[in-house]
Amino acid sequence: MKVLVVGHGGREHALAWKIRQSPLVTRLWCAPGNPGTANLADNLDIGAEDIAGLVRFAAAEKVDLTVVGPEAPLCAGIVDEFQKHKLLCFGPNKAAAEIEGNKAFARELCRRHRIPGPGFWVFEELAMARSFLDNRPDGPIVVKAAGLAAGKGVTVCKNNEEARAAVGECLEKRRFGEAGSRVVFEEFLEGAEVSLITLTDGRTIVPFDPARDHKAVGDGDKGPNTGGMGVITPVPLMPRMATQIESQIVFPTVHALNRENRRYQGFLYAGLMLTTQGPRVLEYNCRLGDPETQPLLMRLQSDLLPLLLATAEGKLEQQSAPVWDKRVAVCVVACSGGYPGDFKKGVPIFGVDKVTTGPDLQVFHAGTSQRGGDLLTAGGRVLAVTALGVDAAAARQRAYAALDAIEFSGKHYRRDIGLKA
Ligand code: AMP
Ligand code: GLY
Repeated sequence: MKVLVVGHGGREHALAWKIRQSPLVTRLWCAPGNPGTANLADNLDIGAEDIAGLVRFAAAEKVDLTVVGPEAPLCAGIVDEFQKHKLLCFGPNKAAAEIEGNKAFARELCRRHRIPGPGFWVFEELAMARSFLDNRPDGPIVVKAAGLAAGKGVTVCKNNEEARAAVGECLEKRRFGEAGSRVVFEEFLEGAEVSLITLTDGRTIVPFDPARDHKAVGDGDKGPNTGGMGVITPVPLMPRMATQIESQIVFPTVHALNRENRRYQGFLYAGLMLTTQGPRVLEYNCRLGDPETQPLLMRLQSDLLPLLLATAEGKLEQQSAPVWDKRVAVCVVACSGGYPGDFKKGVPIFGVDKVTTGPDLQVFHAGTSQRGGDLLTAGGRVLAVTALGVDAAAARQRAYAALDAIEFSGKHYRRDIGLKA
């Protein structure tokens, strides 16, 4: 099979790494890929959002399956465009991907189908949003840009004053452009967070093992949110909670989308808060999480490719359930100095080639570039180490030892990934 992976982050490096191991693969490309995927696949000079260019390439090379990593092309309708050209593309179509592309739609979907989430209010006008804040008791509240904002559109506010500032960033300063032209206020929920990624073709629903991302930039969940600083998986869940997540959230969401003529085929990511009243949806993503993908795929023992193919073809029921390595995986992301604020690019990275990688330890590139023989930083999240261990402590010890061997000026990372486990 000829396979094309679309995207250039750590998620796509992990996807290419896993797909490369499939005996079914004869050719593998990444568009555009990164220096990590270059060791596994042929990187193409086609951007992840150049849908016409991707269709042209897939048609010319007779690509059997295109696997889309990031949300932007999915929300822009890449799957629909491939279908028009009779090409197979893994991921939800545009209508189904709206569950991530439009947070107001996602919240209203939950309300219509009684899927548990926080109370919420949607505003487009600054004056109305301000007046809402003026008339509520002071206290914590969450402000979200309704559209795609590269993981930066959410502000968890301690009080109404912070919320006023966050609303101003969206509706007045237009910091997120069109994506912030509508804001969603949400009731602030407390509890432990968990990411649950499900593979579904709209009929068969296969939940993956739960993972815990660490969104805040600093140890102890301090500081602003990022795209994700590290992950531990699996996360032990009380049996009651696990059942509730499936029966109250995952299954109803897939069915709700079906009922609204938005059949979902792909990875459906539910970001959940485990509250004392049960699980609540914080957000949906129409794709694999990043970095969640990295530790999850390292624990996945089954061949991923037949699962992806069957999902895209709507035949997931014919596949046996995925088999997981019982061990714990810890993934720690190393970031550029300043991230999630402004940061420099082009800083030399040392030591990646000194790390001994294998089935139990991998370095996945996220924001790197290659110049001659030099590896350079090219993004906020630069690279991540994922290690497996018999328990969280063993996995942490291996992941951090490897990460400490990699150097670049400004490098920062959280020290407490998986520590609570
Ligand atoms: P999101 O991208 O919507 O998942 O939001 C990013 C992060 O903000 C989440 O991982 C949570 O830590 C936090 N968050 C989002 N929504 C809420 C909420 N309603 N209550 C409390 N925290 C939230
Ligand atoms: N790590 C969170 C996300 O991929 O959205």
